Amino acid sequence: MSDRKKITLPTLYEKHQKGEPITMLTCYDYPTAFLQEEADVEMILVGDSLGMTILGYESTLPVTMEDMIRHAQAVRRGAPTAWLIGDMPYMTYQPSVETAIRNAGRFMAEAACDAVKLEGGREMADRMAGIVAAGIPCMGHLGLTPQSASSLGGFRVQGRDAARAARIVEDAAILEEAGAYSILLEMVPDRVCHMITDRANIPIISLGSGPDSDGQLLIFHDMFGLYPRFKPKMAKVYGNAGEVILNGVRKYVEEVQNRSFPQPENWFSMKDDVYGELLKYLEDTSTKDDD
Ligand code: KIV
Repeated sequence: MSDRKKITLPTLYEKHQKGEPITMLTCYDYPTAFLQEEADVEMILVGDSLGMTILGYESTLPVTMEDMIRHAQAVRRGAPTAWLIGDMPYMTYQPSVETAIRNAGRFMAEAACDAVKLEGGREMADRMAGIVAAGIPCMGHLGLTPQSASSLGGFRVQGRDAARAARIVEDAAILEEAGAYSILLEMVPDRVCHMITDRANIPIISLGSGPDSDGQLLIFHDMFGLYPRFKPKMAKVYGNAGEVILNGVRKYVEEVQNRSFPQPENWFSMKDDVYGELLKYLEDTSTKDDD
């Protein structure tokens, strides 16, 4: 187990002040959380992307609070000192400020999260302000916001033209004003990310939005070849765990079929004298039954 001190909001702000990059990854389960904690990842996002990466849906929209809480609890058990962010799923904050506060509170009370994240700009400023007023740190998410993929024209870069880019720059300022402790920029052009980072007083995290930010986020499953449907351009692959697992499973199937698995070290045996006693016991009891 790592002996790292708990990552807190002051830890993150101190890194931001010093200009030290903040590390962030998505995570959805206990063993991966354990590894991320060991590797000193600072911010862990239990993203509603788990709808696609773990549950196999085609979008994040079917994900429920129950799904998110269950996975966030597992991640917290594996990563006790990381700054843990619960991603608010579709329609758990959009309907009203009160709904947003109640569901944000569930992440904190039931899964021991440190913060929540919600998608959207000015239209979500009152939800952001309500959550923050309830004492819950809240991260903003601008650019490609997957819960709105349908109205954004799919999973594509956002803010390519000047007017749309200006709107994202303004939205970032509005979210900061509403109390966001940090903002994630997903798939916006590098210069827009740079501009927002320069203007903001809070950490700006980039996902596919270039190097000029206060930190970086990657989707864990994209980093290790674990999402079979597609690989986004922005994802760097650090290893092909998918291939390692596939080869292992193929080998297992082959070994069971040709009977080379299991070997004696893979099972538990019984001593001869105990086996003899067992045979005798069964024989005696069957004779008694016949009487
Ligand atoms: O759900 C998620 O993992 C996210 C990232 C795409 C930023 O929100």
